[in-house]
Amino acid sequence: MATPMYFTHGRLISEYGLAKVYLFNNQLHLEIGPGHSLWAYEGEEEQYVQQIIDPFGHCLEIGLGLGTSSQYILSFDEVKSLTTVEIHPDVIEVYKDVNLIEDTRHSIVNMSGIEYMVQSGRYFHYIFMDFYDIIDEDTILELRRIAQVAKQVLHEGGKIQAWLDPFTPREFAEEFYKILG
Ligand SMILES: C[S@@+](CC[C@H](N)C(=O)[O-])C[C@H]1O[C@@H](n2cnc3c(N)ncnc32)[C@H](O)[C@@H]1O
Repeated sequence: MATPMYFTHGRLISEYGLAKVYLFNNQLHLEIGPGHSLWAYEGEEEQYVQQIIDPFGHCLEIGLGLGTSSQYILSFDEVKSLTTVEIHPDVIEVYKDVNLIEDTRHSIVNMSGIEYMVQSGRYFHYIFMDFYDIIDEDTILELRRIAQVAKQVLHEGGKIQAWLDPFTPREFAEEFYKILG
């Protein structure tokens, strides 16, 4: 379930369908409706810096959000291409609206991550998964299912990583490490 958040003091920067981007405390925040649910904020960059380790080659990312992790992955010279798969078309529209950085290595596809991996016929050197906002029982089940498919489209010597919410209860964090280990 998405975390509720109300931007009573935020400034609406972009809105498209169910997706809204607010500037709040000098950071962009992404809500995906119809309720006020926070899905991403720029402050998470610090976590991506700690958790995304040496991406390289042809990379796949599942979940665009505000594109903070996309930009971080693209900051590595070893990254030849990054395909980001995003399920909500509205999120892609607001991203295009607020993002000022263009990188010819980056392409964004509107699809579910699992569907893309099964249908594209492509293989990747690095896969980063961040398609959830909390890690609970349901997320663990979904992560396990998606990680199995991701392992099948990974080049030999490739690497799969996923965002770990620092507030994840220990039982779920242990499951997370088992899946990703
Ligand atoms: C937590 S946000 C990603 C945050 C992103 N890493 C960033 O830097 O802002 C999760 C994103 O995954 C998308 N999403 C959810 N389920 C998905 C799926 N099955 N396939 C692709 N994208 C999905 C959501 O719409 C949302 O945009």
